[in-house]
Amino acid sequence: MRSRQTADRMIQRGDAAMQSRICEMLGIEYPILAFSHQRDVVAAVTRAGGLGVLGAVALNPEALDVELSWIEEQVGDLPYGIDVIVPAHYVGEEAGGLDAGSLTAFIPDKQREFVNEILERYDVPPLPSDRDHQIGLLGWSAKGASSLLDVALRHRPAVVANALGPPPDDMVQRVHEAGRLVAALAGRPDHALKHKAAGVDIVVAQGYEAGGHTGEISTMVLVPQVVDAVAPTPVLAAGGIASGRQMAAAMALGAEGVWTGSVWLTTEEAETHPVVKEKFIAATSADTVRSRAITGKPARQLKSAWNQAWDGPESPGALGMPLQTMLIADAQLRIARAAAANPGARDLITYFVGQVVGQLNQVKPVRRVVLEMVEEYAEAVERLAGLGE
Ligand SMILES: Cc1cc2nc3c(=O)[nH]c(=O)nc-3n(C[C@H](O)[C@H](O)[C@H](O)COP(=O)(O)O)c2cc1C
Repeated sequence: MRSRQTADRMIQRGDAAMQSRICEMLGIEYPILAFSHQRDVVAAVTRAGGLGVLGAVALNPEALDVELSWIEEQVGDLPYGIDVIVPAHYVGEEAGGLDAGSLTAFIPDKQREFVNEILERYDVPPLPSDRDHQIGLLGWSAKGASSLLDVALRHRPAVVANALGPPPDDMVQRVHEAGRLVAALAGRPDHALKHKAAGVDIVVAQGYEAGGHTGEISTMVLVPQVVDAVAPTPVLAAGGIASGRQMAAAMALGAEGVWTGSVWLTTEEAETHPVVKEKFIAATSADTVRSRAITGKPARQLKSAWNQAWDGPESPGALGMPLQTMLIADAQLRIARAAAANPGARDLITYFVGQVVGQLNQVKPVRRVVLEMVEEYAEAVERLAGLGE
């Protein structure tokens, strides 16, 4: 174990060697952005010197209001962000998004029956009849994101990010009028150019190894191409970054900071399902798969009996976004409720996670993850500077 002073010195050096335009633009100490659906993680990353970004897609406007008020109480004047999803393509896009009632009509019997077959095969018990569960679909559309934005702009997120397509014009305009920044995730250089043309301030170049929705190009190959394509717009690297060495590599590729997701799922603050957390801690980097089984678009997740069934020979094929999410919402809830005690549900349960899951072997507090990343970053930069001396 290193002494406390040595660790503090490394952190100071890491701090000095990672000041980038992103730190200046966002007013943060470390250019480490953390995507999470959990407000505790968001607040803890911001308080540790990075910037937490709250994933808002599953929240309705009232719930978002509560979450943002809570985060602001926790972080004081420090900056945080929010993330919405307006996909470039989804069922009902012509109307800006349909409500759950109208969309239900688009779900074929074949897929409904397949869900029931899986649950029966794995002996997953039904939900209690008094269950109170309504799927929050609102977020996956232009209309849905717009009402989330109304709430967000009554609060003070420093950055609003959009995934799965360029942010719509009115989103960019409203965020800029409110004096905040717009970011967007890109899995290909041509997507990054579309984001730039739409007026985004920060491009997140997210590679194939990332958790959640991903493209087909690895981070190592994608980041320098995006950096060159959109220069001088700053780029954050995402996908496969969970340590200081990976962060140093991302900065060497031309990124001005990192955008991370998976690494926070095994922190103390994360309310990841206990069975999922346990599976993540045990998993190797070969245990993820890019599958349409959860949202209808390819998203990296832990391999489980659920995605094996949807990607297997008997599958009727996943539905488009957001129908697949609607179709499986109750089944996912049944599986989650039963997973602690029911072996079939345990085999089925899965969640989004990237290839870095193989590095996540211990549950740690968020602050420690941030400081270890900064410390290891400093060591990596020093080692590189010393090569050939
Ligand atoms: C559990 C989980 C859920 C995610 N959901 C979203 C989302 O709703 N919106 C989004 O922009 N990105 C989402 N992502 C992707 C992250 O923003 C980030 O780009 C990705 O996690 C980076 O790669 P990493 O997982 O290797 O750190 C998600 C990632 C994970 C792991």
